[in-house]
Amino acid sequence: MSEITAQKILVVEDEELMRAILRQLLEDAGYEVVTADSAESALDAFSTNDITVTLTDIKMSGRDGLQLLDQIKTLDPESVVIIMTAFSSVDSAVSALRKGAYDYVTKPFINDDLLQTIKNAARQRKLFQENRLLRRELRRHYGFSEIIGKSEAMERIFDIVRKVADTNASILIQGESGTGKELIARSIHLNSQRADKPFLAINCGALPESLLESELFGHKKGAFTGAVANREGLFRSAAGGTLFLDEIGEMPFALQVKLLRALQEHEVTPVGSSHSESFDARIVAATNKDLSNEVKNGNFREDLYYRLNVVEIVIPPLRERREDIPLLIKHLINKHRNAGGGVECTVSQPVLDVLIQYDWPGNIRELENTIERAVILGGSDIRLDDLPPKLLKDVDPAASSARPTLDEVEKNYVLEVLMAQGEDKNAAARVLGIDLSTLYRKLKRFNEE
Ligand SMILES: Nc1ncnc2c1ncn2[C@@H]1O[C@H](COP(=O)(O)OP(=O)(O)OP(=O)(O)O)[C@@H](O)[C@H]1O
Ligand SMILES: [Mg+2]
Repeated sequence: MSEITAQKILVVEDEELMRAILRQLLEDAGYEVVTADSAESALDAFSTNDITVTLTDIKMSGRDGLQLLDQIKTLDPESVVIIMTAFSSVDSAVSALRKGAYDYVTKPFINDDLLQTIKNAARQRKLFQENRLLRRELRRHYGFSEIIGKSEAMERIFDIVRKVADTNASILIQGESGTGKELIARSIHLNSQRADKPFLAINCGALPESLLESELFGHKKGAFTGAVANREGLFRSAAGGTLFLDEIGEMPFALQVKLLRALQEHEVTPVGSSHSESFDARIVAATNKDLSNEVKNGNFREDLYYRLNVVEIVIPPLRERREDIPLLIKHLINKHRNAGGGVECTVSQPVLDVLIQYDWPGNIRELENTIERAVILGGSDIRLDDLPPKLLKDVDPAASSARPTLDEVEKNYVLEVLMAQGEDKNAAARVLGIDLSTLYRKLKRFNEE
C-alpha cells in the first residue's frame, strides 16, 4: 500500500465565516484541515498534529498572528507559515516575512492564488523534511566513522548502539580506561533523534559532593554562600539532548539517592528549592569500575545500578581485540599526520608486530599517544626506535635491564613536552627553555638516529 497521507493545513482565523470558507476551499482541493479560532488553540493543534502548512490571520484578539508565528517557529524552526493580512496592512506582512513566514496572502484573496501559495509552501515543507533526513543520514555515517573496530566485540557494540540510539533507555558503558567509553557515548547521541540538541558531559568523580549536586540539579539564588544567581543544572540544560555521567562509580552515596529519584520521577529539585522541575535528557553513564562488584561491596546502590543499566555496553580492553590494532593504527596515523607534515606514513612489519603484541594497559588512548609520538619522530616511515622504550622492553627482554641513555631520556622528554603542547613547537621550545631553532635541530637529530 502506498503511503500517501493527506497534507494537513492548520487554519487560524477568529472569524467563524472565514474559517468555514477556508475549510471548504482547502478540503475541496484535497487537504486535510484543522482549524483554530485563536493563537492559543492554534498552538495546541500545532503540537498535537503533524501540520504541513499553517495559514494564519494576522489580526486576532489575544495573541496575534505574528506572535503565533514566533512560537511555532520556536517549536519547529522548519515549520512553514503563511500569513493572511488585509490589503491595507502589507507592512505587517513584510515584518512577518522577516520573522520567518514563508509567504503572505492579502484579503480578499483569489482562490486559485491562495491554493497555489499553499501548494508551494507544502513543497517547501517537503524539502525541509528531505533535508533533515539527509542530514541525519550523514550524521549516521559520521557517528561511526570515527570509531574504528572490526572485531566481533566492536561489531556487537555498533549493533547495540544502532538499536538503542533512538530510544530513551538509560545506557551504562563499562570498560577500562582509554577503551573509548566517551566516544561511544557521543556516537549514541549522534545516532539518536537528539543529535541536534546538546550533549553535556560531567565527571562525577571530579567535583566535591555539594558542587556536583548543584551542577547536576541546579540551585536557587542564595541557596548557599556563593549562589549569586539561579543555576539551571545539567539535567535541565540538556534540554532534549543527552547527559553523559562519566565515572558514575565515583558518585557519592547520598547523591545516588537523588539521582535515582530524578530518574524515576523525571524531575529534579534544584538545591534550595521546594519545587521539582521536569527535564528531558537521555542518560548515558560510564565507569571503569566493575559496578556490580561495587554494588556487592555496598558502595553503589543496587536500585540505581538497575535504573542506569537498562542497556549495558561493555567495551573489552584492546588486548582482547588485537585484530582491531592495525586498523586503529591506520586511523590514528591519519588523524595525527597533519601535525607531522601531512605526508603518507608507512609502518614496517617489525613495528606492527610490536604494536600488536604489546598489552596496552592504557588501551586506545595509550596507542594514540604512541602513534602521535611516532608520527612526530618518524616522518613518513615509522621505525622501531620511534616507539617508546617501554614497548620494546616488553617485547625484547635483553633491552629491559638496560637503563636509558642520556640521549634517550632527552629524546623522551622533548617529545613528551611537544605532545603536551599539542605539537606547537613554539610553545614546546618555550617550556623546554631552548630556541626554536635548537628544537628543530634536536628533532632532526632524533629523526636521523
Ligand atoms: N574504537 C576507537 N576508534 C578510534 N579512536 C578511539 C576508539 N576508542 C577510543 N578512541 C580514542 O581513544 C581516546 C580515548 O577514548 P575515550 O576518551 O572515549 O576513552 P574512555 O574510555 O572514556 O577513557 P577514560 O576511562 O580514561 O575516561 C580518544 O582520543 C578516542 O578518540
Ligand atoms: Mg572517559
